[in-house]
Amino acid sequence: MRPLIIGNWKMHLTVSDALAYARTLLPRLAAAGGREIALAPPFTALSPIAPLLKGSPILLAAQNLFWEDEGPYTGEISGPMLQEVGVTYVLVAHSERRRHLEETDRAAARKVVAAMRCGLKPVLCVGEDEADRAAGLAQTVVRAQLARGLEGVAPGEAARLQVAYEPVWAIGTGKAATPAQAAEMHALIRKELAGLFREGGSAVRILYGGSVTPANVDELMRTPGVDGALVGGASLKADEFARIAAYR
Ligand code: 13P
Repeated sequence: MRPLIIGNWKMHLTVSDALAYARTLLPRLAAAGGREIALAPPFTALSPIAPLLKGSPILLAAQNLFWEDEGPYTGEISGPMLQEVGVTYVLVAHSERRRHLEETDRAAARKVVAAMRCGLKPVLCVGEDEADRAAGLAQTVVRAQLARGLEGVAPGEAARLQVAYEPVWAIGTGKAATPAQAAEMHALIRKELAGLFREGGSAVRILYGGSVTPANVDELMRTPGVDGALVGGASLKADEFARIAAYR
C-alpha cells in the first residue's frame, strides 16, 4: 500500500501565499518518491494552485464538500466543482468541523457517499477527545464514528476510501499520540473496516494526524498500521512539509 501524506492548511494562506508555497515546495520534493503527497488548501486557492502542481508529484485535496451536486445550498461547494478544478482527495468530518460547525456522523456519511459518486477519494476523519480517552471511551467513540460515517459505502468502493485517525487532544497541541497509542487505534480501525467491508477493508489507508512534525514523522510512519499522515500546522511551512513528505 502506497503511503499517503496530506498537508491540511485549514483556514490559512491566501492565494498569493499558496502560489509562493508551491514554488518553494516543488523543487524540494525529490526525496518523496514512492509516496503519494497531497495538499489541502482553502477552497479559494485550489484553482489558482492547480496549474503549478500539474505534472508534479503533488495531488490536490479539498478540506470539505457538500453532499448534493448542485442546488440552493448557499456557501457550499460540491464534488463536481472540486473535480473540475483537479481535486483528488477530500477530507470529510474533520474534528474542527464536527466541533465548530456541528457536523454529525450522518452528514459525514452523506459526504463520503457523495465524494465516491463524484470520483473523489474521501478521507473520513475520526478521533476521540480528551474526555473520551480519560473515560476509557476512545475505542467506543472511534468505532461509532466509523460505523455511522461509512454507512452507505459498498465493500467494492472501499479501495477509494481513506480513514484518518486524529485524536482531538493531539491536534495543534504539540502532544502527538505515542506510537503505541497510534498502533492500538489503527489496529482497531483495521478490524472495524474488515467487519464493514470484509476483504475490501484491507485496501483502505489509515492515516495518523495530530501534531505530526519533522521530529516525530519518522517514528510515526514506522508504527505498525500507520499508512500515512494528515499534517496540520507543520504543513504550513514548505520546508517542514517537504521534510515530512521525505520521512525515512
Ligand atoms: P496539527 O498537525 O496542527 O496538530 O493538525 C492536525 C490536523 O488536524 C490535520 O488535519
